[in-house]
Formats: sequence, structure tokens, C-alpha cells
Amino acid sequence: MQVDVLNGVNLDVVGRRDPTLYGGLTISELETRIYEFAIGLGLRVRCRQTNHEGQFVEWCHDALDGADGVVVNPGAWTHYSYAIRDAVELLSVPVVEVHLSNIEEREDFRRHSVIADIVAKRVIGKGPEGYREALEFLAANK
Ligand code: DQA
Repeated sequence: MQVDVLNGVNLDVVGRRDPTLYGGLTISELETRIYEFAIGLGLRVRCRQTNHEGQFVEWCHDALDGADGVVVNPGAWTHYSYAIRDAVELLSVPVVEVHLSNIEEREDFRRHSVIADIVAKRVIGKGPEGYREALEFLAANK
């Protein structure tokens, strides 16, 4: 099973952002964890991160033909990008939305996710472990 893990805007500097919200791992440490989770579950995973919305959309398009499941953390785009919603909606494979921080308990604008109603599962506020939960869900719902 091939899974694409797409991290969006500002996730490249996650290690420099508030560790009480984001946990303090760098993006490469986070991706190493994700690859370790994947090995444990027998999944093939490709982690990608971009700060460019169009690139994120194109990686969703890549997943149309190349992935059996997708994990997305679009960062702040989550709250307003209809372009990313449309790209996620195109996917016929299960998509899991992950957020490191608990967006339900932060500023009001973070409570709204434009993809919440079109994803198969949401994992919020569990830090890097959230990606494990997302991969476990995909592995169990092949
Ligand atoms: C985030 C939550 C978003 O609100 C924020 O803009 C991010 C990261 C998270 O993983 O907690 O950049 O998606």
C-alpha cells in the first residue's frame, strides 16, 4: 500500500514554532518518525512538504494515480483554501486530515477546516503520534 503524506505551509519550520503547540521536532525528525511508523505498519510512504499552494494541489493530483491513501496537514490553508479542498475532493482514495496542535482549542479561525467534511478521518492535537493514527487508519481501511 502506497501512502502520500503531504505537509503544507510553514510545516518546514515546525521545529522553530511554539513547542507547546507543535512539539518541537524538526520537519526531518517528524518525517523520520512517519517513515518509522510506516515500516511498523508495512506501508510504503512518501513524505512531501511545500509552502506553495499550487505545488500542494499538484501533489494531490499526483496522488490520484499513485497513492492508495493520503495524509494531509495543509497548515493554515486548512482554514481557507478552496483550491486545496477541490484537490482533496478529487481523490477517490481515503484521505486523513492531521494537525499537530489542537485546532479546536485555539483561535476561532482555526476551528474551521474547509476539508473536514470530505476526509475519511481527522486526527487533531496528538502531535507526531497523529500521523501514526492516520497511517493505522489507512492500513486498516485498505
Ligand atoms: C497546523 C494547525 C494550523 O492552524 C496551523 O496554521 C499550522 C499547523 C497543525 O498541524 O497544528 O501551520 O496545521
